[in-house]
Amino acid sequence: MDFLSLVIDGRKVQVPKGVTVLEAAKSLDINIPALCISPGFAISGFCRSCVVEVGEGGDLSPACVLPVQENLHIKTNSPKVIASRRLTAELTVARHSMECAICYRNGKCDLQRLADTYGIKESRFFTREQPLEIDDDSPAIVHNPNRCILCGLCVQACCDIQTVSVIDFAYRGFERVVEPAFGQSLNEVECVACGQCIQACPVESFYEKSDIDWVLEVLRNPGQVTVAYLSPPVAISLGEEFGLGVERPLTGEIVKALKMAGFQKVFDAALGADLVILEEAYELLTRLNSGKKLPLMTSCSPEWVKFIEHFYPELLPHLCPTKSPQQIMGTLVKTHLAKALGIDPKEIFTVSITPCTAEKFERTRPELASSGHPDVDACLTIKEAARLIRMTSGGSFPHLGAEEFDEPFETASGAGTLFGAAGGVMEGVLRTFYELKTGKRLKSVGFDNLRGEVGTSPAGGLREAEVPVGNEVLKVAIVHGLGNARRVLDSLRSGDKKYHFVEVKGCPNGCSQGGGQPLPTTPELVRTRERALYAEDEKKKVRKAHENPRVKELYEKLLKKPGSPIAKKLLHTEFTPRKHYL
Ligand code: SF4
Ligand code: SF4
Ligand code: SF4
Ligand code: FES
Repeated sequence: MDFLSLVIDGRKVQVPKGVTVLEAAKSLDINIPALCISPGFAISGFCRSCVVEVGEGGDLSPACVLPVQENLHIKTNSPKVIASRRLTAELTVARHSMECAICYRNGKCDLQRLADTYGIKESRFFTREQPLEIDDDSPAIVHNPNRCILCGLCVQACCDIQTVSVIDFAYRGFERVVEPAFGQSLNEVECVACGQCIQACPVESFYEKSDIDWVLEVLRNPGQVTVAYLSPPVAISLGEEFGLGVERPLTGEIVKALKMAGFQKVFDAALGADLVILEEAYELLTRLNSGKKLPLMTSCSPEWVKFIEHFYPELLPHLCPTKSPQQIMGTLVKTHLAKALGIDPKEIFTVSITPCTAEKFERTRPELASSGHPDVDACLTIKEAARLIRMTSGGSFPHLGAEEFDEPFETASGAGTLFGAAGGVMEGVLRTFYELKTGKRLKSVGFDNLRGEVGTSPAGGLREAEVPVGNEVLKVAIVHGLGNARRVLDSLRSGDKKYHFVEVKGCPNGCSQGGGQPLPTTPELVRTRERALYAEDEKKKVRKAHENPRVKELYEKLLKKPGSPIAKKLLHTEFTPRKHYL
């Protein structure tokens, strides 16, 4: 590797050829503000918060786009740099509604730090006379353009990484904003509610539509039976909101806190994932036997389902007709459990707690109402659940004690727990499919060739593998991120690729980077969250979905067998071709 030497603030350093001055400074622990860069995103050089003074001439240049050259002399804190950064901070603050006290980013915000460092309390420059209209028509995503600092990261996330392309820059100068074409609402375009704009935005201009007030109101209503269910990634990441690491999932503590908040029952949503696995394994076997509608593609990621409905409706028959785990939980609660307890389903209020913003859209689908009432009433992201717990626990979380999940939906297998991992659905289904197809016991449940590193580049989210099952070899693909899903769908359309089974998660890096995960999400955090899910699977006594005693009981007493008429009625759904606007 070739190295170059340069001098930063009088300190000599050697760095590999090709790195930027920003990266070189970081290697010396010199902190340069940088508002418009994010790992995995192209560098735009838009914000100019990172300017440094270069060489004898003292020109100012953004450090994030400036490649290191041999013997370059850089000043990161000269009077000229400070004056420029102060001006940048002031201009940025002029167009940004500084509402730190009510902002999720408060205390972990690069803009706040920049304004604080350079002493900017208010701007001398003009501000808007009238605030711009907030777009809150979508059931999942809110966009407040008054906070936007025009860094462009959300546009990259939506257009380049997710290839949904429903937002872009519009107008010029101080009027410049990010918005859908022709000033439409996100609800009027093909937004799939993936929340990757939320993950990308450094200043909370995009955020999830909150269900907290609604949930609190229902919790105060003694006439309602309130039921929550937790996806496994929730227990792993929620502690981050309380400054804790993800070394140990806080499952029991969260169950206890939700009970204190007023929920009567708290269930494990991974049980719903176990049921998806059985239905999906059976569907895969049926399609392999018939040779029709292959590859089978998973359907548990709501933004992925909406994406294919908008952009590739002719490929909808490839989707597995099974509902998502959270919808299955809602169905079971409002049909099977309601009947067993003698409760009218309209008196039950179900809340899914999830890393996913697209579930907020999914719950509004009219077809997802097996009891005649929505299967899932409200969705809280991990961030919202943390806020609810903070409000209702008197600040004592996680020291309130712990409780187990409630019967009868308290037990899930390792396979169901893995659902949140990129590749976890595939692995979980194959553990069951192998035994269903061969009639033999699978000795080792870990499919190492399906596992891969996450948190790398967004384009790294496509893995292919060949899995021997008895005398046959199954060609499979694991895809995360909708840009990668588009590549796979295009190759299926053109006939370039042939698979038997494809797992798709709409978010890059899967649920570990879901739109409702705590912020900021770094590549390291994504890897840690993902590893924690695999560790949870390893700790489980039962690691195959079909060996979960609760699943066996449900099939014995209610569902008969996978793919049966009653299983289809309760656990399957249908998909809708949707409008493609441009
Ligand atoms: S994004 Fe940062 S600066 Fe803006 S309101 Fe939130 S905390 Fe304050
Ligand atoms: S939620 Fe997803 S699709 Fe919608 S605007 Fe954001 S990034 Fe684009
Ligand atoms: S909405 Fe957020 S991510 Fe998008 S350009 Fe504005 S500040 Fe950047
Ligand atoms: S971080 Fe360099 S221009 Fe924004």
